[in-house]
Amino acid sequence: MDHTETGRRSDARTVGVQAVEDAMRRALELAAEGPAHGPNPRVGCVLLDPAGRTVAEGFHRGAGTPHAEAAALAAARAAGADPRGTTAVVTLEPCAHHGRTGPCADALIEAGVAAVHVAVADPNPVATGGADRLRAAGIEVTTGTLAEEGEELLRPWLHAVRTGRPWVTLKLATSLDGRVAAPDGTSRWITGSAARAHAHRVRAQVDAIAVGSGTVLTDDPSLTARTLDGGLFEHQPLRVVVGTRAVPDGARLRGPGGPLLHLPTHDLDEVLRTLGEREVRHLLVEGGPTLATALLAAYAVDELHAYVAPVLLGAGASAVAPFGVTTIGEAARLATRSVTRLGDDVLLVARRAPTQNGRPARPTKEEI
Ligand SMILES: NC(=O)c1ccc[n+]([C@@H]2O[C@H](COP(=O)([O-])OP(=O)(O)OC[C@H]3O[C@@H](n4cnc5c(N)ncnc54)[C@H](OP(=O)(O)O)[C@@H]3O)[C@@H](O)[C@H]2O)c1
Repeated sequence: MDHTETGRRSDARTVGVQAVEDAMRRALELAAEGPAHGPNPRVGCVLLDPAGRTVAEGFHRGAGTPHAEAAALAAARAAGADPRGTTAVVTLEPCAHHGRTGPCADALIEAGVAAVHVAVADPNPVATGGADRLRAAGIEVTTGTLAEEGEELLRPWLHAVRTGRPWVTLKLATSLDGRVAAPDGTSRWITGSAARAHAHRVRAQVDAIAVGSGTVLTDDPSLTARTLDGGLFEHQPLRVVVGTRAVPDGARLRGPGGPLLHLPTHDLDEVLRTLGEREVRHLLVEGGPTLATALLAAYAVDELHAYVAPVLLGAGASAVAPFGVTTIGEAARLATRSVTRLGDDVLLVARRAPTQNGRPARPTKEEI
């Protein structure tokens, strides 16, 4: 391939590795400013001149708005800068398809960028191929720059696109002895206000939130994402009820908040497939114990958010019921990712190690 014809390759070489990595860090920061919910990935883009200085930046603000690359090119032009000969540093491989907006690969080619650095290759079968298209146009493309950080930012989205099922976060709010309710069934509130406020912020970042019908009938939750003053966050997740019993007419779930989806089944494969088809990328499951246990037994929990309060109940429903573990070697063990103090409570975030097919599984005995 004749790169000299375009005169781009020599420009690209002048941007050093350090400048590209710094720009990728910035692009990841920008990407994180986009909404965590929605069908589209969070993407950031930084354009560098041949000396490694930032020409313009952009990020994707959600479905229907310009992609990060288009936003950065527009910002460059708005500032009177010529994107020709720049190096584009992008957190996700530029798309090659006509979706709600045109292909980003074409926009970069038309703008005359010299090189493109990508953190994560696009696994989306309808959008992939951007890197090849760029290369075919004589543009140098490097993938894998800060790949781990890029994968982490896009974790739920990547998982959903790769498997066709949402990333499942199981939330448990328990006493120190692992209980979610007192013997009389009361459970409000085990955790304090800081933990509850945190959980509401998480709700505002996910696409859907699910409970079993037992929780609907016992607690009559609204499953809305609420701000500290009790108002509603702008984004309200889809509210999903799993179970055969009907959602009562007067249930809070039918009030203000996200749309309600009742799935009258116990088949969790079907539930996750249905949600995947609706482009739910991140599902937050808020119980109760029966649904939580069924998900654990089906190896369908990708991440656990355990809000643990320094409260002892001694009796009452446990967060999870028996799910086949008879000896310690069979325990579902998770790897702690973070521990955060929230008022008097603690939030433990943990994940299972993924298996080869992308689904979480129990570790082997050798790993314990
Ligand atoms: N502290 C917390 O974090 C927390 C959170 C939520 C709930 N809770 C407490 O949990 C208690 C309710 O417990 P729960 O276990 O009844 O709640 P649940 O898990 O929300 O609901 C259980 C029901 O879900 C349906 N279901 C859906 N998928 C199922 C499956 N794969 N296998 C079996 N059943 C399935 C069944 O109802 P159908 O017969 O209708 O099919 C089942 O009876 C309440 O006391 C509530 O306060 C606490």
